[in-house]
Amino acid sequence: MMTDDMPEETAETLREARDALDDGFFPLKLFQDEDLHELEVERIFGQSWVLIGHESEIPESGDYARRYIGDDPFIFVRDESGEINLLFDSCRHRGTQVCRAEQGNTSHFRCPYHGWTYKNNGEAAGIPQKTKAFQELDREEYGLAHVPRLESYEGLVFASLAEDGPSLEEWLGDFKWYLDIQLKLPEGGMEVIGEPHRWVIDANWKTIADNFNGDSYHTAWAHGSVVDLELGGEETVGHAGTGESMDRHIHCDGHTTSIRGFEDEDVFLTYPDEVVDDLFTKDGLSEAQWQVARQALSFTGAIFPNFGFLHFGDTTDDPNKDVAPFFTIRKWRPLGPEQMELWSWGLVPKNAPDSFKERMYKMYTSNFGPTGNFEQDDVPIWKSITEAAGGQFARSQNLQLNYQMGMDWMSEMSLDEEWDGPGFAYTENLEEGGMRLFHEQWYEMLVGNDREDGIGTSMNVEVES
Ligand code: FES
Ligand SMILES: [Fe+2]
Repeated sequence: MMTDDMPEETAETLREARDALDDGFFPLKLFQDEDLHELEVERIFGQSWVLIGHESEIPESGDYARRYIGDDPFIFVRDESGEINLLFDSCRHRGTQVCRAEQGNTSHFRCPYHGWTYKNNGEAAGIPQKTKAFQELDREEYGLAHVPRLESYEGLVFASLAEDGPSLEEWLGDFKWYLDIQLKLPEGGMEVIGEPHRWVIDANWKTIADNFNGDSYHTAWAHGSVVDLELGGEETVGHAGTGESMDRHIHCDGHTTSIRGFEDEDVFLTYPDEVVDDLFTKDGLSEAQWQVARQALSFTGAIFPNFGFLHFGDTTDDPNKDVAPFFTIRKWRPLGPEQMELWSWGLVPKNAPDSFKERMYKMYTSNFGPTGNFEQDDVPIWKSITEAAGGQFARSQNLQLNYQMGMDWMSEMSLDEEWDGPGFAYTENLEEGGMRLFHEQWYEMLVGNDREDGIGTSMNVEVES
């Protein structure tokens, strides 16, 4: 463990957290800690594959949008040759940000300070008064800096600030099996609809990471109003722990998904029959993946460290309208130990009729947009955790949060030995192993180890050897 290069107090805090995790606990105070925040930015967000956006957001040459990794501003831009770039948004003269709008289309970016101009592939194109002012300067050396690594998976674009390390393919690992179900089900794939929503939440980013890594326990309680208002079925929010359905919690190569569904039924996330019949295809999926999609009512998932997705059926924005599905991906970007910016996109089948795309978009915004029916339940909760974590009491009493649900002696869940997909599938969604898995990886990266050191084997049940 590489803790020699950090203050002894921080190293001790991490050792304590490591010990606590073994017993299914995690210190409350770590949900608001200035020193750890800086370490997280450097060692987690500086080393991980982080979602930037979707290729369909910038379909034409010159299309661009501002994006961030940790605190760093970037320009996500398709150049004249059609290649996608992620350029550090800082002029090579004296550092000014050269991208002056959130998104748009341009062949060049011009710095507002002294007018240096860059092509949309980052190359420096013009330097005012160069022959008089910079006679020796080689313009080719002064392009905007590219992110060290940029890769796509099925249209999702990820970047890494680390020069080397696992490829995106390796980072996602076998979890691609579950991602593919979301992305390849409709012929032609998925595309982003509209612009991403962004909103700032006064909460630590690990609160939402916990939530997306398998908090099935909260849905019936925190989101009960969705059922009360007849905007969603009991099945969508209410049947955690009944064991009557095809509910699974999956841990796969450090990432997680919670699946709700029904054995032996054609559910397909409540996509309407005409979309299922006309658009859904087995072409990119195995028979086992197709069967999971067929039975699924919803998927919630998280890719380490800050990517979440929700592919849901069985809700509506109006009790008088039929239920309809939505698909949203999101990332949580820490702005400090007690604040994050949430970025959220709606996705729709690329080849679906426009009217259905609009319905899905409306379903996404009314459920998980900034004022969504589910979103507004969760946000005050995450804020309150962060507030409780940041004061004296959490520290002086060293209060520990409980993550024991599903440890081998704590709940009725078991490992599904018959599961056809990769990773570990748990038969009972009342388990919090996905959150422990998240914190294990968080710990390993903070102390300078490989993320894989925190993945291990089955976390919730004793596997007979
Ligand atoms: S800082 Fe950009 S041209 Fe001077
Ligand atoms: Fe929630």
